[in-house]
Amino acid sequence: MSMNINWYPGHMKKTRESIEKNLSMVDLVLELIDARIPYSSQNPVIDSIVKNKPRIIILNKSDLADEMANRMWQAYFRSKGLDSILLDALSGKGIKELLHASERATEDIRKSYEKRGVINRPIRAMILGIPNVGKSTLINTLAGRKSAKTGNKPGVTKSNQWIKTQGRLQLLDTPGILWPKFEEERVGLNLAFTGAIKDEILDIETLALKFIEFMKKSYPELLEKRYKIVVEGSPLETMEAIGRKRGCIIRGGEIDYTKVSNLILDEFRKGVLGRISLELPEE
Ligand code: G4P
Repeated sequence: MSMNINWYPGHMKKTRESIEKNLSMVDLVLELIDARIPYSSQNPVIDSIVKNKPRIIILNKSDLADEMANRMWQAYFRSKGLDSILLDALSGKGIKELLHASERATEDIRKSYEKRGVINRPIRAMILGIPNVGKSTLINTLAGRKSAKTGNKPGVTKSNQWIKTQGRLQLLDTPGILWPKFEEERVGLNLAFTGAIKDEILDIETLALKFIEFMKKSYPELLEKRYKIVVEGSPLETMEAIGRKRGCIIRGGEIDYTKVSNLILDEFRKGVLGRISLELPEE
């Protein structure tokens, strides 16, 4: 469930402090980002919050993202010295890799405990990420339960229970909810396309037009295949062609722009348009 949080400087400071407090209790950070928008969905100051704590980047919703882009992003993070894994938190695809990566990232800690005679100590981890990247979904999947229970408040709530998962991994029951980037227009658009921010940063029709503009450039064949249209002319003409195909028509035969805009964005978000990545590394 995405939510709208108004982030003020005071909020960010409090969030940061409560996350830093929780960080002192864990061996490992699981940083969730959206595989379709790894740059836009990464908190701007994550490095300064996590510092040298072992960390794994989780490219979640990788089932919705372009497979080639997924590989490019993994290579990109590797070049920055960061381990990343591809995950679909809904189906659990990638959980095994996540558990392996957790073992890898905390190997030094394990060894130093073993030297002192402590064996089979759990790996304690916390999840960090901006709203809507799938934090609750991942907690539920790892915990093997169905319904979510995450606080809709910024930061981390106080309960601090450890959730046992498969293997040695134990999770702090409440994830750290970080603020998104909000300086760049492109980032705002990407967050809005994916539904991460539901505040209308733009009206839905302008948003859909911007989305079509991107699709014409990067994935025209997916629009053609899904809507059985020929992609030519302006984004508006493409939108109108889709509207006619899908019967988004109001009285007098005019296009229902709101309806067709919602339809297109909805189909993108659900993945029925195909696997689409909105960002590539170093763009
Ligand atoms: P959060 O705690 O980080 O805020 O995110 P949450 O788990 O609530 O997930 C947000 C939405 O993303 C949910 O959709 C969830 O089902 C979906 N989701 C999470 N992980 C994955 C994944 O790996 N793949 C896919 N395809 N979807 C994923 P929702 O319940 O429909 O919420 P909403 O879209 O109405 O906000």
